[in-house]
Amino acid sequence: MTPKLIAPSVLAADFANLQRDLEMINSSEADWFHIDIMDGVFVPNISFGMPVLKAINEHAKKTIDVHLMIVDPDRYIKEFATLGANILTVHYEACPHLHRTLQAIKAEGMKAGVAINPHTNVELLKDIIQDIDLVCVMSVNPGFGGQSFIENTYSKVQRLKEMIVTHNAPTLIEIDGGVTDKNASQLINAGADVLVAGSYVFKSEDPLKTIKGLKEIANS
Ligand code: DX5
Ligand code: ZN
Repeated sequence: MTPKLIAPSVLAADFANLQRDLEMINSSEADWFHIDIMDGVFVPNISFGMPVLKAINEHAKKTIDVHLMIVDPDRYIKEFATLGANILTVHYEACPHLHRTLQAIKAEGMKAGVAINPHTNVELLKDIIQDIDLVCVMSVNPGFGGQSFIENTYSKVQRLKEMIVTHNAPTLIEIDGGVTDKNASQLINAGADVLVAGSYVFKSEDPLKTIKGLKEIANS
């Protein structure tokens, strides 16, 4: 079976010790760096922007998975490619011309992801699923780390997985928000391929051990 992946969310890192936390991820069993970019418009919070992403790229030795929580993401596609994003995920709710946006991301050599908010029906992706490399299913309302997992996510993931299989699409399913050892295996059983974890990793006593444990659960 294809290995299930772990993507620690850098949003929960200690920004005064960012290099230390990036090196921790480098030396861990994590697979990707999950990077949350928020604009204070699409979501009520502002995270960080280009200079920080540039610094992350200089240290990160694994796939850089950028999750854009911004309006009109088309404006910045080229710049994110230049700054080292390997996967660029835009929100369904922020893209009136989603097909065009996905093609533009791929044209810059990146994998194209689509994130959906908790209220967004997975069926809305049916006509474009073959063009999506990754669907990021939000299991909290985007904007903040440390929120509680929304239980309805399991059934959304199951329906999405069925759609992907039916269409023989190459799409990976990523879960973002409130992921812990308590919900990881049920998420994988429902069809998830990638688990994002912020607070669960960085607020733990031993992040390396926490990542290892999550990876074991996801692949058991
Ligand atoms: C929320 C972000 C998440 C967040 C996850 O808007 O997209 O990636 O950092 O953090 P936790 O795991 O703490 O919910
Ligand atoms: Zn995210």
